[in-house]
Amino acid sequence: MAEEPERLIAEDGTRLDGRKPDELRPLRIQAGVLKRADGSAYLELGSNKIIAAVYGPRELHPRHKQKPDRAVIRFRYNMAPFSVDERKRPGPDRRSIEISKLSKEALEPALFTEYYPRTAIDIFVEVLQADAGTRCAGITAASVALADAGIEMKDLVAAVAAGKVDGHIVLDPMYYEDGYGEADVPLAMMPKYDAITLLQMDGNMTEDEFKEAVRLAKKGCKIIYREQRRALKRKYGGE
Ligand code: CDP
Repeated sequence: MAEEPERLIAEDGTRLDGRKPDELRPLRIQAGVLKRADGSAYLELGSNKIIAAVYGPRELHPRHKQKPDRAVIRFRYNMAPFSVDERKRPGPDRRSIEISKLSKEALEPALFTEYYPRTAIDIFVEVLQADAGTRCAGITAASVALADAGIEMKDLVAAVAAGKVDGHIVLDPMYYEDGYGEADVPLAMMPKYDAITLLQMDGNMTEDEFKEAVRLAKKGCKIIYREQRRALKRKYGGE
């Protein structure tokens, strides 16, 4: 990471990239970008570039892994070696295994897995370019890819982080803010039900700061949710 800037937030609350504390980075979502996947999505959030692909529901082999009453959800989060400043060694590491697990758990409550017994639904998230907030951006993209695959869902899952930077609570920290900030709170939710499906905290915050971070992240999720729905409407009509 480049040298720490003298200050991350100016006197008037403006951030290094010109955003206000409660502003998301520019967001772009496209549904259905891969021909061979059953569902897919491409997402850009600031400098993050992410592809999500969904395969299934499909018969699960080996058969002893099948669940007689529901689908098994599998999620793989992967960072391309060229997605970060210092080449990332290819293959899973502790971080990507943890992110895969929590992403699966963030999405599973939204899926009617009971409609698809004995099958697997495989979700792949490939980070092509990373600039902080990739676990949340991956969940957001995967959710659109699941809908694009036609999988029955209670709601889309939208996700974004809030953070504490120079003592300010800010929405959607980018790389410098995440790296030099004091805390990071990734959150995923089903906006229709106001139901949180992922909540983490890395760093230190007071209880009030944490509440403010959750409020901001939820607000961000509602904006992201609108963009997810727009992306699906662009592909399937309605807009
Ligand atoms: O991406 P996210 O914020 O969900 O996860 P993180 O573990 O807090 O990582 C923050 C950022 O650090 C990533 O988005 C990447 O930009 C960067 N990173 C990196 O440069 N090299 C890695 N091996 C892992 C992360």
